[in-house]
Amino acid sequence: MAESWAFEWGLQPYVARRDAFPPGYLSRVSKAIRESKYLADNNLNYRFSGTLGYSVIFRDVGRARVLENFPEFDKYLERVLDPRCNAFFLNPLVTSEGARVAPHVDRSLRSLTIPDEPPNPLKVSVLYVEVPSGMRGGRLILYHRLLPLGWVTPRANLLVTFQGFLRHEVTRVSSDRPRISLVCEQYVLDERLYKRIPEFTVRSMSSFGLFFEAEMKRPSPQMTVAEKVTEEQKQALLQEGSQDG
Ligand SMILES: [Fe+2]
Repeated sequence: MAESWAFEWGLQPYVARRDAFPPGYLSRVSKAIRESKYLADNNLNYRFSGTLGYSVIFRDVGRARVLENFPEFDKYLERVLDPRCNAFFLNPLVTSEGARVAPHVDRSLRSLTIPDEPPNPLKVSVLYVEVPSGMRGGRLILYHRLLPLGWVTPRANLLVTFQGFLRHEVTRVSSDRPRISLVCEQYVLDERLYKRIPEFTVRSMSSFGLFFEAEMKRPSPQMTVAEKVTEEQKQALLQEGSQDG
């Protein structure tokens, strides 16, 4: 797929806002992520070694169901969701000592759109929920191809939104306590791909190929209650890792 060059903010690779939310709200989000029953090894893809996390995938019309299941994310979603986008991949991440994320372009919806490639996200938002004092590394570096365009040093309550087509990496984290972030990839899908995205689903990956679905209060035809990873999806995910790494 051709690269999108829809720069959102002039030629800036990202925009950042410090002290984005009230401190009490950050604590609420942090507690919700730490205590989530979905938190498990995020070893779906080798790029995310040393992290724990889960994914909430939803369409624009599924937003209310996200809030029903994850009420603590209310202010975050209100702030970051772009009304032009119609599909979202929300990823709370707990990153521990030694973890890093190798360079990649976000295409986390790929396993759902196969055999077609999803477009790049229009934008990706990252809220640094918890950044331990004394943490070293964990910097977000943004590239266009091999050219570094920007660097972000994490600090608690910093909200960063970057151009979705940019390749990026997170440098190795050195910290005795975990770092917590909340990432949202935001996509504009055409009708054909849009139909393949569930209205709302949760994926927790405690081992490769094992998905737990959220307890759905109102199942919809687009949603499977006990989704299994197909062989095709596994291949797509593995390819994603090798292409992006
Ligand atoms: Fe990423």
